[in-house]
Amino acid sequence: MNILRFGIVQYPKKLSMSERIFNKYFQEINIDAVYEGININPNDFDFKIKDILNNYYGLNITVPYKERIFKYLDSATDSAIFLSAINTIHKGIGYNTDWVGFYNSILNENLNKNILVFGAGGATKAILYGLHKIGVDKIILINRTYERAVELKKLFDKKIKIKIEKYEKINTIINDVDIFINTTSLGMFNERLPIKLNKKLSLLYDVVYFHTPLQKEAESLGIKTINGKMMWYYQAIENLKIWNLFDEEKFFKIKL
Ligand code: ATR
Repeated sequence: MNILRFGIVQYPKKLSMSERIFNKYFQEINIDAVYEGININPNDFDFKIKDILNNYYGLNITVPYKERIFKYLDSATDSAIFLSAINTIHKGIGYNTDWVGFYNSILNENLNKNILVFGAGGATKAILYGLHKIGVDKIILINRTYERAVELKKLFDKKIKIKIEKYEKINTIINDVDIFINTTSLGMFNERLPIKLNKKLSLLYDVVYFHTPLQKEAESLGIKTINGKMMWYYQAIENLKIWNLFDEEKFFKIKL
């Protein structure tokens, strides 16, 4: 049998967690498969993507191509269309598993509380969609650029009641909420968010994979913390299910 090829289409080149973990997993389940980083310069995307779609059994798509990929596929799921973002492909169909990753990583928490979401980018959309699917019907949203928060509020009209607060008020608002969700990449380079956590918070969810200053501060205050690795982990499971390769016991053996 030919080797099964998988990859992540991205730009610029990144060290991806997917590359490391999926290759380990393929060894673990003993199949002849490889997962590789596929770096495409934006100028070459339209010219190269068709061949890639034909030559790979399964793909992940990341920044900056999650939206640009749509027109090259036969179809996309409703959630991918709603979020205007595809991150997984199989047999010409585009899926969004980011929101499922978030959904499963927070599903066991009590979310019947006051929630503050920080950010209004691509990751935020997937997170708001996940919160909506879990049944959360209202949140407070703060973003540095106010207009982007307004756009999200419009998109989620009828799904989640979004109260937008000004960026400058973040340190006041945070004292009135129970759950804080950072959907920005702030902290990735060890930088601090412009906020001070209050030990009354019951949960900090931070999309950043690394052990950031924010997460450390939360831990020192005894606040439960979930970090971005969990979101990645559950979206990876969803990808493997789409590619018909998920073996729960073997996947659990892999250390993130
Ligand atoms: P992604 O798709 O990873 O979510 P994005 O769409 O570029 O990336 O969104 C990045 C988010 O991080 C945005 O909410 C952005 O705020 P702006 O809309 O004001 O740009 C936020 N962000 C990035 N750098 C920031 C910073 N230094 N301070 C505050 N917010 C920041």
